[in-house]
Amino acid sequence: PFVVTENCIKCKHTDCVEVCPVDCFHEGPNFLVIDPDECIDCTLCEPECPVSAIYPEDDVPGGQEGFVALNAELAKVWPVLTVRKDPPADAAEWDGKPDKLKLLER
Ligand code: SF4
Ligand code: F3S
Repeated sequence: PFVVTENCIKCKHTDCVEVCPVDCFHEGPNFLVIDPDECIDCTLCEPECPVSAIYPEDDVPGGQEGFVALNAELAKVWPVLTVRKDPPADAAEWDGKPDKLKLLER
C-alpha cells in the first residue's frame, strides 16, 4: 500500500483524496492516513500531493518507517475523507519543517 508520511502533518492539502478510486483516505485534525487494507496500489495519489508526503510502503524515507504502522492504526479510528477541503491557512509555512511528528493531533 501507499503511506502518508510526516510532511503531511499541518500541511494537509487533501488533493490526494479526490483521486483515490477506493476511498481509503482517513482524516484526523492535522494529518491524513491511508488504510493499508483498502489501498490497491493504483499510484494516483502520489503525484497529487503538493508537498510530496505520499510514498509506496517500500520506499518510505529513512527514519519515517513508523508511519507505516501509524497509517494502519489511525485509519481504523479516523473517518473517511473523499472530498477536497481547504488546507490550513499556514500550510505553506509547514512544508518541509522537520520533527512534525510531535505535532500530530489525534
Ligand atoms: Fe488510493 Fe491509489 Fe493512493 Fe492507494 S495508491 S491510497 S488506492 S489513490
Ligand atoms: Fe496530506 Fe498531501 Fe494529502 S499534504 S492531505 S498527503 S495532498
